[in-house]
Amino acid sequence: MLVAGNWKMFKGPSAAGSFCRALRDADLGDVDVAVCPPYVSLADAVQVLAGTEIGVFAQNCHWADEGAFTGEVSPAMLKELGVYGTIVGHSERRQLFGETDESVARRVKAALDAGLNVIACVGETDEERETGRTNDVLERQLSVLEPDDGLVIAYEPVWAIGTGKTATPELAQEAHAFVKSQIDLPVLYGGSVKPDNAKRLAEQPDVDGFLVGGASLDVGSFAAICQAASTS
Ligand code: PGA
Repeated sequence: MLVAGNWKMFKGPSAAGSFCRALRDADLGDVDVAVCPPYVSLADAVQVLAGTEIGVFAQNCHWADEGAFTGEVSPAMLKELGVYGTIVGHSERRQLFGETDESVARRVKAALDAGLNVIACVGETDEERETGRTNDVLERQLSVLEPDDGLVIAYEPVWAIGTGKTATPELAQEAHAFVKSQIDLPVLYGGSVKPDNAKRLAEQPDVDGFLVGGASLDVGSFAAICQAASTS
């Protein structure tokens, strides 16, 4: 079980430092734990969490080692900071910043080649689910990825992200089983995971952890989710 907190564009360096100090002392149960701060807060998180089992992940990374790519950050730069891995292909990147299956594939490959661990995100929109295209979309998004020891998939239905509409445990299980039929890797669930729904989701046989957004911004609720995942 891996529980990763995706902070999105929240917590600058000083807030990240205080959060990570509190996280060090929190009871997180028996799960692998990671935090994914914004770029500017990675160094503080790495420093505060050094010597703990908690991993620090970026939220994205470019495919080139360096180059004329204004606003981007390379896998080598993340490695130099002591970052353990990165999220790639989050639906907010796909929907708001023009990320495509092809650019996701390039980023994932470069990050893995550099020795970073990767959480690659997939998931259907509301409209795609309503029109019966969920499996087609997942199949397409996964078709550009290859199994790798450093790779895990996050299934995040777009309609469940930040909406308070969590997938039911049955629906999550069905989608996770489908993802695993396409690519043999651990699958995290993401989309409005909260302390009160985490346990039932974590009990599903193909749910291998969580990618948590909003509820990961508070140490208490993030720790409660880790504990719920730990006892399942
Ligand atoms: P949420 O976000 O938990 O706030 O729905 C999840 C995510 O976007 O990774």
